[in-house]
Amino acid sequence: MRKKFVAGNWKMNTDAARAAELAAQVVAGFVAQPGWAEKVQVALCPPFPYLGIVAQAVKGSPVHLGAQNCHHEASGAYTGEVSPVMLHDTGCHYVILGHSERRHKMGETDAQINLKVKAALQNNLTVILCVGETLTERQEQRTLAVLQSQFHGCCHGLSRDAMAKVVLAYEPVWAIGTGHNATPEQAQEAHAFLRSRVSEEFGPDVAGRTQILYGGSLVPDNAPQLLSQPDVDGGLIGGASLDAARFLKIIEAGAR
Ligand code: PGA
Repeated sequence: MRKKFVAGNWKMNTDAARAAELAAQVVAGFVAQPGWAEKVQVALCPPFPYLGIVAQAVKGSPVHLGAQNCHHEASGAYTGEVSPVMLHDTGCHYVILGHSERRHKMGETDAQINLKVKAALQNNLTVILCVGETLTERQEQRTLAVLQSQFHGCCHGLSRDAMAKVVLAYEPVWAIGTGHNATPEQAQEAHAFLRSRVSEEFGPDVAGRTQILYGGSLVPDNAPQLLSQPDVDGGLIGGASLDAARFLKIIEAGAR
């Protein structure tokens, strides 16, 4: 049985004071509910400058820390970049890789993401790997082909043990930050397909254990339906993760 997982992607939002306050509110709300920690894993992914602040706020609690990106090298002349070694050193448990904003606004390719996935796993980070189709790709009925090629492109060369430390996030680009979430049926179809790809490439045991999160306008109102789909194991939350009460409501839906 896969545990539910709800992660907040704060993107380029908050400031130092707000990051500390928001993390403290999430921790307090989460630990106050008996049984939630057994049913749901929770992670907060603040911007790089606030990782240390949030690390302090979640210390000793069941809430984990994650980052939103990393470079594939451990160190070196890469001005402006942050390595997976540094993230681990800062207390990160997770790193989001391949987010559509990095693919589409920063031009990251599957080949680059594949290097990052391998580097992150080698440095004891659990990867939250995002895949998802654009609106045009969906309209042209290429959704499953896009998911297959992104998944293969980002995960090829991993061992089964390594793949077991990858969390997938299905994030249709047309649903991110738009208020138009995928329907539960659309999400279930994509998640079941992704699980079949994991099974094909890494075997049914790994596929059965792989958590597949949904992301894209996931909010308290649609969380109960989306999170009750058999292959939807949680959510990667953008906008609604910036408000502790809304984020906690989504966690509550995961704990049901
Ligand atoms: P959203 O973002 O919840 O604001 O749509 C999700 C994401 O980008 O991970």
